[in-house]
Amino acid sequence: MNAGARSALRVVWKGKGGGQGGWLAALEVSNQLPGWTEASASLWGGGMASQAPLFFSTKALATARASKDMLGLGSFAASTSQRLQVRSSSASASSAMPELVHEEDLKEFKVYRWDPDQGDKPRMQTYTVDLNDCGPMILDVLLKIKDEQDSTLSFRRSCREGICGSCAMNIDGTNGLACLTRIEKSESGAANAQSTIAPLPHMFVVKDLVVDMANFYSQYKSVKPWLESGEAEKVDGKEVYQSKEDRAKLDGLYECILCACCSTSCPSYWWNSDKYLGPAVLLQAYRWIIDSRDQQTDERVKQLDDAFKLYRCKTIMNCAKVCPKGLNPGKAIAKIKKAHHGHLE
Ligand code: SF4
Ligand code: SF4
Ligand code: FES
Repeated sequence: MNAGARSALRVVWKGKGGGQGGWLAALEVSNQLPGWTEASASLWGGGMASQAPLFFSTKALATARASKDMLGLGSFAASTSQRLQVRSSSASASSAMPELVHEEDLKEFKVYRWDPDQGDKPRMQTYTVDLNDCGPMILDVLLKIKDEQDSTLSFRRSCREGICGSCAMNIDGTNGLACLTRIEKSESGAANAQSTIAPLPHMFVVKDLVVDMANFYSQYKSVKPWLESGEAEKVDGKEVYQSKEDRAKLDGLYECILCACCSTSCPSYWWNSDKYLGPAVLLQAYRWIIDSRDQQTDERVKQLDDAFKLYRCKTIMNCAKVCPKGLNPGKAIAKIKKAHHGHLE
């Protein structure tokens, strides 16, 4: 089995096969490899080895075949599925009724809760989740809690693959996307004692993990995040050509998904979010400043020449540390500052 693969479900199958005495197969199921629909296993017991094809019925699409040397006492990697079914199609093993034993791997999650309609103070609520019956990401944990334990828990999510930016929150003290943040486990493989999940820091909370993004979006709107091509030379009256070199200047900027992880980890933004635009919006502003097709470059630069809008950035660089897309808003801010001194690069 892939050494790095994490066990998500352990199935112990006991039974008697072919009149040769007892045998035992322990199946280790991981959700980090593609789904398995079929695997062949060597089973040991009663002084002899026998071969029995096993069929895994999972919801996954991918199919893989286990090689015998991966198995040992029957060690498999397969996608997790609560509907896992194991059955033997071999004559020797057909008399054995599989016994499935689910081994739990419990972990506690402390989740910030606040419902303005209840009138109570905010509190941390602890939920226990079996990691062997859950996907590998923090978003999987939240969905599982909401589905199975507490439907009142509120959080945002949409794409579950780091594209929409809606699942941004604070996980174990660091801002990040719940759908891209793995559940922390200790090196021994056992679950850490506890994880803490809270809303983005210094934001007004709407409910539980949902924060009010209105100020953030209105700041974004203030930098006119669209192309002002004006009188630029156009092909067929529509397209404005851009060289490959000029297009490359947008790399590291256009990928921003406006999750606000950076802005809400910036101390300057915490204290002055009403006046300081923050790293996310400034990175977006620079994305339009440096776009060769835009005709409003000077106006855009001038608009940001402000002690609060831009110069509250103290180059602490928390923003670059937390960006889930690997962007560097602090660098973009430094380039806007340079532009104020006539160096646009
Ligand atoms: S570099 Fe500027 S924007 Fe980024 S965290 Fe520091 S102060 Fe905030
Ligand atoms: S720069 Fe990164 S952290 Fe900031 S809003 Fe964009 S994607 Fe999110
Ligand atoms: S759900 Fe879209 S970024 Fe996490």
